[in-house]
Amino acid sequence: MGQTIEVTATTVGRVALFSTDRSITGQDGHTYSGPPADPRDPPAELASRLFNEIGGVNHVHVMSNMVAARRTEDWDDETLAEATGVVESLFVFYPPIVEQTPEEHDQQLRDENYNATITDIRAHNSDLWVMRVTPDEPIDPFDAGKYTTLALGYWEPRADLAAEEFDTPQREKMARRSYSVSSSIIDESGELVESHPDEVEFYIVQVRPGEEEIPALTPRIFTKGVGDRIYMGRKFTGHYTLDGVNPSDNVVFLSTGTGEAPQNTMTAELFRREHEGHIISLVTVRYSEDLAYTEQHDVLLERYPDYRYMTITTREPGDLENKVYIQDVIASGRLEEEMGAPLDPTNTHVFLCGNPAMIGLPKWDEDGEMEFPEVLGVCQMLHERGFTIDHRRERGNVHYEEYWKER
Ligand SMILES: Cc1cc2nc3c(=O)[nH]c(=O)nc-3n(C[C@H](O)[C@H](O)[C@H](O)COP(=O)(O)OP(=O)(O)OC[C@H]3O[C@@H](n4cnc5c(N)ncnc54)[C@H](O)[C@@H]3O)c2cc1C
Ligand SMILES: NC(=O)c1ccc[n+]([C@@H]2O[C@H](COP(=O)([O-])OP(=O)(O)OC[C@H]3O[C@@H](n4cnc5c(N)ncnc54)[C@H](OP(=O)(O)O)[C@@H]3O)[C@@H](O)[C@H]2O)c1
Repeated sequence: MGQTIEVTATTVGRVALFSTDRSITGQDGHTYSGPPADPRDPPAELASRLFNEIGGVNHVHVMSNMVAARRTEDWDDETLAEATGVVESLFVFYPPIVEQTPEEHDQQLRDENYNATITDIRAHNSDLWVMRVTPDEPIDPFDAGKYTTLALGYWEPRADLAAEEFDTPQREKMARRSYSVSSSIIDESGELVESHPDEVEFYIVQVRPGEEEIPALTPRIFTKGVGDRIYMGRKFTGHYTLDGVNPSDNVVFLSTGTGEAPQNTMTAELFRREHEGHIISLVTVRYSEDLAYTEQHDVLLERYPDYRYMTITTREPGDLENKVYIQDVIASGRLEEEMGAPLDPTNTHVFLCGNPAMIGLPKWDEDGEMEFPEVLGVCQMLHERGFTIDHRRERGNVHYEEYWKER
């Protein structure tokens, strides 16, 4: 038999609010406008009891530790006390007295917390995936370049041997991280992909444990397979979008590693819009095997002769003696040569994504003065050429998405 829940009840008009001392659902709310047909989980069981045992209840919403019940008439003290009793005793008779195995407990946590299914994994190599996720409920359309959250519970196994230390409450929480939405650019039939399909694509590298930090999420994602459940945020957010880019502007995408993700989504969008200006994408990776979208770009390059896709490796044999970074490609004039147009701030937008050292974001003081990092990044080079960096609400023509913060 479970323990009584402690409940505080208040009313607002015809709605009674019951605040409980523990969570009854996962992160998502459960709404009922009638008794659920097959009440198999705690919120559904509670709703069923409120509908069946309390007269006049016509709507129930359960989210985390809040239960709201609406009636067709106002709540009197007696009915409120009865309903409070129903909430208090939920776990006294539910679930049936069955001891859960640890596996069943983890499965329960998954059922309560996840809201999406992994529906496709293209493992480009063992540490680099293009992964697609299908949410349980359809999502609203969002702009190319935005990001959302992916999460898995700390109870999930890891793909590496790193030893994390945490207590039981932490084990039942979720490791959440931001991910840019990526996009294939060409579909299976060789056509430009449609925007906002039901599946959302992500481009993810597995981060290896370092001496100072143990990555929480990616080693857990990399144990998963098609059909497994995951949490995906329903809000797609960020200012890293094509807002303000005119049809004839030149667009320069510069990225490191999986920073290519939003650039691909925006590239697909520009082609769908029949963008007139030049488009160039330059990606830096350690090894050539860290490029998962080259076949797609090859098709684009054939189809759109003015499009440019350039890649640089930094750790292949031969690279070390003469390491070239994006900054060098700008300084040498090669970027402009490849694009076939100057880096002119009056008609060019530059998008920087990935490693914060490549981006080289300045610190702004109260007067708006900028202090650039010691190691030269692209922001400083562009600032010196008259470009304006997005800052707070002021939209410039240099846009950035840092995947982590420099320490
Ligand atoms: C807005 C936004 C969008 C993002 N989009 C993506 C994306 O599309 N794909 C993606 O792989 N990551 C993306 N990231 C990074 C992502 O949020 C995670 O940090 C990353 O997946 C590692 O998670 P983790 O828990 O395993 O390790 P964490 O504890 O988050 O990171 C540990 C360390 O790994 C390094 N690191 C983190 N992310 C990367 C990366 N992508 N490439 C190389 N080194 C990294 C950093 O040194 C970091 O301090 C994005 C981050 C932000 C803020
Ligand atoms: N790439 C792999 O082979 C590989 C395999 C398994 C796991 N991982 C994991 O993935 C994570 C990182 O992977 P990643 O290679 O995608 O990301 P990354 O470390 O950000 O490197 C991406 C590219 O950015 C370059 N770069 C670094 N500093 C720069 C700067 N100041 N200016 C311009 N360019 C700069 C890197 O060159 P440098 O070569 O100089 O760093 C590299 O070519 C690591 O945690 C690792 O554990 C990577």
